[in-house]
Amino acid sequence: MSSLLNSSAVKRTLSACLALPLIVLAGNAAADGDGVWKGGENVYAKVCGHCHEKQVGPQITGRQLPAQYITAIVRNGFRAMPAFPASFIDDNSLQQVAEYISKTPAPAAKP
Ligand code: HEC
Repeated sequence: MSSLLNSSAVKRTLSACLALPLIVLAGNAAADGDGVWKGGENVYAKVCGHCHEKQVGPQITGRQLPAQYITAIVRNGFRAMPAFPASFIDDNSLQQVAEYISKTPAPAAKP
């Protein structure tokens, strides 16, 4: 029994949970579709939007940010923004959300 509790897998899981309170923030998003994110727009709404639509992070839509820049920041973190590992957002979903964000239209110019 105690060997089970001491196993490194359990410790890794526990530290991953402690390091990722965002899983709680994102609610049950990761459970959607058995852990597979449903498209870039969904990832943006369920993860990025918690900060980037709430003035916690800067606006990232409508700025034609390059997809590569977005994926690099999500994987590595950027100053106040935490990094999201592949165990949280898989490569495919990350690519989709980066393309979704980079293609969102710029707001209409004010007259
Ligand atoms: C916990 C809040 C939080 C979440 C969730 C979050 N971000 Fe951020 N993000 C930030 C903050 C805060 C910054 C600004 C960091 C700074 O300048 O210190 C930032 C900055 C960025 C930037 C750089 C913006 C610029 O002006 O160059 C990009 C790109 C970005 N985030 C993408 C994403 C994407 C994509 C997601 C979803 C996968 C995401 N972020 C989720 C908080 C968050």
